[in-house]
Amino acid sequence: MRVYCFHGRGCRFRPQIWHPRAGSAAAVGTMVPEVLLLAALLYAAAQLLRFVFADADLTLLWAAAFGKQPERVLKGRVVWITGASSGIGEELAYQLADVGARLVLSARREGELERVRRACLERSRLREEDVVVLPLDLLDRASHREITAAVLRHFGQIDVLVNNGGRSQRSLFLDSDVDVYKALMELNFLGTVSITKEVLPHMIRRGTGTVTTVSSIVGIAGAPLSTGYSASKHALQGFFNSLRSELSDNPGITISTICPGPVQSNIVQNAFTEELGKSVSAQADQQHKMTTPRCARLILVGVANRVWEMWIGQQPFLGYFYVWQYAPTLAWRLTNILGRKRVRNFKAGLDADSAYFTKAKAS
Ligand SMILES: NC(=O)c1ccc[n+]([C@@H]2O[C@H](COP(=O)([O-])OP(=O)(O)OC[C@H]3O[C@@H](n4cnc5c(N)ncnc54)[C@H](OP(=O)(O)O)[C@@H]3O)[C@@H](O)[C@H]2O)c1
Repeated sequence: MRVYCFHGRGCRFRPQIWHPRAGSAAAVGTMVPEVLLLAALLYAAAQLLRFVFADADLTLLWAAAFGKQPERVLKGRVVWITGASSGIGEELAYQLADVGARLVLSARREGELERVRRACLERSRLREEDVVVLPLDLLDRASHREITAAVLRHFGQIDVLVNNGGRSQRSLFLDSDVDVYKALMELNFLGTVSITKEVLPHMIRRGTGTVTTVSSIVGIAGAPLSTGYSASKHALQGFFNSLRSELSDNPGITISTICPGPVQSNIVQNAFTEELGKSVSAQADQQHKMTTPRCARLILVGVANRVWEMWIGQQPFLGYFYVWQYAPTLAWRLTNILGRKRVRNFKAGLDADSAYFTKAKAS
């Protein structure tokens, strides 16, 4: 058989590689390091290529390719989703209905939750009693015990709690009321802690359950215009990372955090601004963001495979996670450069994010 060597015409190993019988055993021995080096380079190139096109951390993508499928693990499970009336929570509800999970849908807007419930029932084989709407205000902590009791009365169990409800922020620190910071912490952090506090004892009694919480890329990194939002997500990361190790004697309990980069949803239009009650003025361009179905699918894979921390984001955001984790000084410098642009866009009345990627559109 005639095969060509990629080393070039002058390659001294060619006769030994392609015509082993012509060479001595010693010559074959000298080839081995070169072959190994080539294999290592090819492997590295393949991994780099994989990373360029990756949209989640490599553990999560491994689980997606070779791990347990959500269809198998989550069928029949009782999953309680907060923030199910829109965006990521709404899409999670649809995909969970598709896999046959029983659902509790919570948020403040009951009408929107009913719309999501109807859509869940239409697209799946779930029965009326398998999808329940339970209005919930994360800020009303006094109500959380009774709402949790209502879920347990209906289903008798909670297998997965998805802490997803929350709001973001678009405002400069120097211009923002401290009340905005209080509201962000009360909603994103304390509201989530409060629901978890009600649900966890039930899971521990049963010896099984998953509490998964939608944090953010800014739960790990920082970003201008989101000082309070980022702080609330950092608080969640710290809280759940500590809780996970506190519960390490409970092997049936999984505590996981989900860190998405930008995902298509209503998050920007619902963000807090400088003052409570004032809404965001710039229109958000969503083209550069990950689609909601892809984000939800990756979350379900992470839940099915008990992945503790999920980084979900298209490039360059995924790379940003890695730089932040493994080269923080470089990450801080990068954040300063990109952050300057973000602040400039914002001050010019443009959508702060999309102007990174597209020609900025004025609102
Ligand atoms: N989209 C992104 O780029 C992105 C990136 C990273 C992390 N996240 C996180 O993903 C989660 C979902 O956000 P999203 O992107 O899907 O935005 P979204 O479309 O605005 O959805 C937010 C959800 O939170 C609910 N919510 C807000 N305030 C609440 C309250 N006081 N009590 C109960 N529920 C409340 C909303 O429902 P009601 O208004 O009906 O209450 C809504 O269902 C959030 O935690 C967000 O921080 C999003």
